[in-house]
Amino acid sequence: KIVPVILSGGVGSRLWPLSREFFAKQCLPLTDKEYSLLQQTMLRTLALDVAAPIVVCNEDHRFLIAQQLHSIGVKKSTILLEPNGRNTAPAIALAALESIRSQSDDTLMLVLPADHVIRDIAAFEASIKQAVELANDNALVTFGVKPTRPETGYGHIRAGENFSVLEFVEKPDLEKAQAYLDSGDYLWNSGMFLFRPKAFLDELSVHRDDIFQAVHNAYQQRSEDLDFVRIDADLFAQCPAESIDFAVMEPTKKAKVVPYAGDWSDIGAWDTLYDYADKDADNNVLLGDVMSEGSSNCFIRSESRLIAAVGVQDLVIVETADAVLVMDKNNAQDVKKIVKRIKAEG
Ligand code: GDD
Ligand code: MG
Repeated sequence: KIVPVILSGGVGSRLWPLSREFFAKQCLPLTDKEYSLLQQTMLRTLALDVAAPIVVCNEDHRFLIAQQLHSIGVKKSTILLEPNGRNTAPAIALAALESIRSQSDDTLMLVLPADHVIRDIAAFEASIKQAVELANDNALVTFGVKPTRPETGYGHIRAGENFSVLEFVEKPDLEKAQAYLDSGDYLWNSGMFLFRPKAFLDELSVHRDDIFQAVHNAYQQRSEDLDFVRIDADLFAQCPAESIDFAVMEPTKKAKVVPYAGDWSDIGAWDTLYDYADKDADNNVLLGDVMSEGSSNCFIRSESRLIAAVGVQDLVIVETADAVLVMDKNNAQDVKKIVKRIKAEG
């Protein structure tokens, strides 16, 4: 059996004003009219033979997430609540402990970020089926995507024969990323993983026993109500914050990489959402009540009012009931700075 483990920790501040602290991006129907990214992630796994999922998320999002799972027919799930996120290594370790406690010994965890879009379900399934045998043999399996640009935000994997990983470099600098791209020997880490919970915990304990111990202690002091499992706040706060990529995937010798050839995108900011969406004849993405006259290459999304855009290029305009974002599409990363200021200045 495969247990889907969905990481739903972030808020997605670069997608402000749509994503908010209490309405995180993975809960929004960003790319699909009906389903949120989280729901799409869950639905993607249903074609495989999967057990009840484990979702790891912030305590503030618990009802929204429970309701979203319920509304797509997921009857049984475990929702692990982090009082404060400590990045992905602790989140995955919590899920591993939970899965060892609640599932049989031969369970595999399929770790999936909640903010990815994958349309090619057949390719997704094919890669996972290919990975099962490796994971059963205690490998930590990653899914590698062919790189298309120098990218400093992703993990890079040098793949050898028989799925071996010769090197894993998390978030290289631009010079390295360019060299890796030119060499043709590297794949991007997709951020999805398949392994036995124990195989992961053993490697975590070898390379970062401090994280393993801290998570173990916090998990021991959990409290449960309904589908929710609440982790002890004080103990979890003592856990070092680190990603699985730095904590385990870079140093481990047990990694394997299976190629994933289907479409894949990490919806992080408005420009990636623009790239992903279908465009009109002027290369605009116009959502909701929007009129364009001589505008091009824009992403415009209206929620409650008519937006009219005349003769503008490369803009992102996002209107909600209480805020309007107007931005040069090339500055998509800087929305974070506004969110920071709103928090600070109130
Ligand atoms: N529950 C929980 N708690 N989830 C978290 C936490 C946390 O503390 N921190 C991050 N996540 C979730 C995010 O919501 C996202 O779905 C996923 O874990 C990955 O975290 P990101 O912060 O988006 O990581 P990244 O994009 O910088 O890098 C990772 O993904 C890349 C591909 O998208 C790495 O695995 C890279 O190697 C990889 O290339
Ligand atoms: Mg990401």
